[in-house]
Amino acid sequence: MKTPVIVCVDDEKTILNSLQMELMDELGDQYLIETAESGIEALEIIEELLAEGIELPLVISDQIMPSMKGDELLTQVHAITPKTLTILLTGQADAEAVGRAVNSANLYRYIPKPWESTDLSMTITKALKSYFQDKKLAQFYASLEYKVAARTRELQQKNKFLSIAVHDLKNPLFTIYEFSDMIKTDFADTPEEVIEMADMIAIASQKMFKLVKNILDVNAIESRKMDISLNVFDILPTLQWVINQYIKRAKVKQISLHCHYQKQAYHALCNKDLLGQVFDNLISNAIKYSPIGKAINIRLKQDDSGYVRCEIQDEGPGLSLADQEKLFGQFTRLTPKPTGGEDSTGLGLFIVKKLVESQQGKVWCESLEGQGATFIVQLKR
Ligand SMILES: Nc1ncnc2c1ncn2[C@@H]1O[C@H](COP(=O)(O)OP(=O)(O)OP(=O)(O)O)[C@@H](O)[C@H]1O
Ligand SMILES: [Mg+2]
Repeated sequence: MKTPVIVCVDDEKTILNSLQMELMDELGDQYLIETAESGIEALEIIEELLAEGIELPLVISDQIMPSMKGDELLTQVHAITPKTLTILLTGQADAEAVGRAVNSANLYRYIPKPWESTDLSMTITKALKSYFQDKKLAQFYASLEYKVAARTRELQQKNKFLSIAVHDLKNPLFTIYEFSDMIKTDFADTPEEVIEMADMIAIASQKMFKLVKNILDVNAIESRKMDISLNVFDILPTLQWVINQYIKRAKVKQISLHCHYQKQAYHALCNKDLLGQVFDNLISNAIKYSPIGKAINIRLKQDDSGYVRCEIQDEGPGLSLADQEKLFGQFTRLTPKPTGGEDSTGLGLFIVKKLVESQQGKVWCESLEGQGATFIVQLKR
């Protein structure tokens, strides 16, 4: 590696020589000390050094010089090589020049002339230390950025591969489901055991289909591919539509679904499809985790707070505080278990939270263990 160079500039030869000697005494052969008697000469030297790829940690310049002044020179040096530190030697109190150099040359320090040797040597040592520390830090950040970018690319590729693989599972799964259904319906005299087996195949493929759909949803949300155009519209019909989809399933468990609202319409900022998916997840959970014979109360509320709320309250097992802390995580299956043999991937509430947040809303759960749970979705109006 080439030896770093410190450039000293002063129009008075004797002062320049004594500066050079002091620096050589202090720094030994770790640095080369170049001298220039004018700003123009200094700039020529600096350009040559940089062209040769030589490191330039420090330029020290006198302020009062004919033609180019010290602060002017250091400003130009800063523009050419911004990381190089600059020190100004001021023969007389020249606060204005120092101020200019601080602003436009990123001045490290100024030293009054005649300088004191200890002051000079301490300042130079500190400046060099600071230059190399900054350099090390910049290299560290650059390598970190490089590693993060490489890792992100790797993860994106992996994710892309996974989402393609998961996506391509959908079609064969559907075929399995369709054929299991055909075994049951398309043949006369199908033995009872075969029908049972076909049923089991159909249930298993449906379960897997749901898992595949959930994983694809999570993937789409995380890579922000989801359509999230938001509009203000009445959410009551969407809620009623989802409730209707679940009436049959609730009936099987003798669960009653009640929808309460006082107004004709509840306008909120949201995306119709995504909100439908949110209600679907929360209502299906309420049915899934409720014991037979319970009630589910769904309430739409709007007050002066600027929000619309939908509360889905069940009379199921509720959630302990420890469980509540884990709700809305990925692949989270908690203490309450499905009461009617329904499947559970542990992704529903994770998706719900992402979907609600992408509609600028909030979702949370209020529950006391053993006393049911209420899931609340809050949307802006
Ligand atoms: N209404 C509820 N009452 C009690 N526990 C619940 C309720 N909703 C969710 N839970 C608990 O939180 C866990 C996570 O719910 P989440 O909806 O994310 O997944 P899941 O229902 O298990 O599977 P799926 O991905 O099919 O929705 C559930 O496994 C259950 O233990
Ligand atoms: Mg669920």
